[in-house]
Amino acid sequence: MVELAGKSILITGAASGMGREAALLAAKAGAKVTVADMNAALAKATVDEIVAAGGTAQCFIGDITDEAQVKAMVDAVVSAYGRIDAAYNNAGVPNTGKVVHELSQAEFRRVMDINVVAVFLCMKYEIAAMLKTGGGAIVNSASAASAITFNAAIDYVGSKHAVMGMTKSAALDYATQGIRVNAVMPGIVRTPMLAGLFASTPEAEEYLVTRTPMGRLGEPHEIAKAALWLMSEDASFITGTGLSVDGAYVAT
Ligand SMILES: NC(=O)c1ccc[n+]([C@@H]2O[C@H](COP(=O)([O-])OP(=O)(O)OC[C@H]3O[C@@H](n4cnc5c(N)ncnc54)[C@H](O)[C@@H]3O)[C@@H](O)[C@H]2O)c1
Repeated sequence: MVELAGKSILITGAASGMGREAALLAAKAGAKVTVADMNAALAKATVDEIVAAGGTAQCFIGDITDEAQVKAMVDAVVSAYGRIDAAYNNAGVPNTGKVVHELSQAEFRRVMDINVVAVFLCMKYEIAAMLKTGGGAIVNSASAASAITFNAAIDYVGSKHAVMGMTKSAALDYATQGIRVNAVMPGIVRTPMLAGLFASTPEAEEYLVTRTPMGRLGEPHEIAKAALWLMSEDASFITGTGLSVDGAYVAT
């Protein structure tokens, strides 16, 4: 198990999917976890599960596209646990599924707000807090769509390319100040984000399995483990990188 005992770790989108799995695994490894999400019921369920297993966690319910709420979220971490050692900026939304000429500005902006602007806001307040305590580690949620593209996804692909660019940019700015900034690039992972698509279009799941060289979808814990490893001291010389966790999806 990765060494995170005593670390204060913030995870956004921790009510569901990969964020939820990362919260459970981080707590199991001894971290003090802040479970942040706009879905109050599911975020509380994640915290309850951690506490029931003997771990330490608190909830922050908020919308991370709102700067005041992001500031309040980071303040809540510092107030509860004294510092923020690591953050997994994982909350995100999928593509709307529309091609360019059918996509409205409002739809495009919504994906950009959650997947890009919120990641910027999170890094802004997390880094400010980390600078006061001598450093930390950030992992952003990029995607295979940070490296390659797919149809009807200018919103999502644009947003995830931006996440990778912001990750490298922030890594450069703080490389000498003890703050590492990396990203995970998941392939196709079995989470609630894709459950609706698979329920309505079973052939989509079949196609994506075939499209993945390992011949299966990823499971949330496989990406969560990579994110937690990037946060840990084992990754002490790694910054500004995107780690593909995708069964060779982008290698083809
Ligand atoms: N599932 C995949 O195949 C896949 C592949 C590559 C990348 N990703 C990325 O991984 C991340 C996690 O995906 P997942 O599949 O676990 O998703 P998910 O839908 O299971 O969970 C996302 C969580 O983010 C929260 N969230 C969304 N907008 C928010 C906001 N404005 N404020 C606070 N919380 C908000 C949701 O409430 C939800 O709990 C996302 O950034 C996604 O783009 C997913």
